[in-house]
Amino acid sequence: MSQDTLKLILEKIFTPNKGILAADESTKSINAHFARLGIPQTTEYHQKYRDMLLETPELNKYISGVILYDETFYQKNSAGVPFVASLKEKNIVVGIKVDEGLFKEENGEESTLGIKNLKERLKKYKDHGAEFTKWRSVYKITSETPTKDHIKNTTQLFARYAKEVIASGMVPICEPEILIQGKHSQEETAQVFAAIMLYLIQAFKEHEVSLSSCILKTGFIVPADNAPLSYEATAEEVGEKTHDIFSSCIPHLIGGVVFLSGGLTTQQATSYLRAYCLLDNKETNYPETFSFGRGLQREAIQAWGGEDKNIALARQFLLKNCRHNSLALDRIESHAFVTPFQE
Ligand code: 13P
Repeated sequence: MSQDTLKLILEKIFTPNKGILAADESTKSINAHFARLGIPQTTEYHQKYRDMLLETPELNKYISGVILYDETFYQKNSAGVPFVASLKEKNIVVGIKVDEGLFKEENGEESTLGIKNLKERLKKYKDHGAEFTKWRSVYKITSETPTKDHIKNTTQLFARYAKEVIASGMVPICEPEILIQGKHSQEETAQVFAAIMLYLIQAFKEHEVSLSSCILKTGFIVPADNAPLSYEATAEEVGEKTHDIFSSCIPHLIGGVVFLSGGLTTQQATSYLRAYCLLDNKETNYPETFSFGRGLQREAIQAWGGEDKNIALARQFLLKNCRHNSLALDRIESHAFVTPFQE
């Protein structure tokens, strides 16, 4: 596969001041959000919801790429145009989640499924217009986990996945997500991140994966959501710690880095991104942006609530959050946050 093709895709994704909208929740995940809000958990409502998000006017002012789930990838918007064609028309690069979810091991750690039939699925997605892909693994921090075996197995899978995706002519996003749930400190998150990176780099070497064609998707280096108060960190501390760890663990050759929002509130995700981007002495020289799911969608889905009459309001919330994160990339303060919904 020509490196130039992949370079062009990377350039489009990392268009200055734009980021990725992760709208690739599996059926199970989107149904869980719908259930909480009393929205019918049907294919029809999945389509309506994705139509509300993806057909937001001016989305492409702040969004360069969207990650879709298989179901949405083959659906059409309310005007009867396939979502993929409609996004391309707006100059938004189409990505697709290609892992097939998680499987619980005996010790409680979760492995990622989907490597077996990956090659065939990649061909289908590429032929249908996808230009990049995503594969997610999760790491839970407890006194026993993540185990060395888990880190080793998941990073081997990342390398095999990335190699196949590059060969297919698309850009792979590798997303090792350190779960925020727990009681761990920021330092423990940093240590686990460093261990994952060590094994990931080793796996990439073994499988001869070109780092410069890959995107790393990661969270900010934060303490757990239920960590003792003494572990709390300000946005500035999160920005600094994230940068310290990135500059010592992420190879400068990587094609780019994008942030997930994990279990952060909408405001936390944006303020951490801003604090990180505001650092004066940044030593990272690869492109960086946001790739938020909940961080962009949370307010919009609550405003929508499954009702057509709320579409315009929901789109305002989506666009507002896209704009705030775009401003954060540009190191510009957005005006006071308006957060009418419970996080
Ligand atoms: P969150 O920003 O909600 O973590 O979603 C990003 C993502 O791609 C999860 O896999």
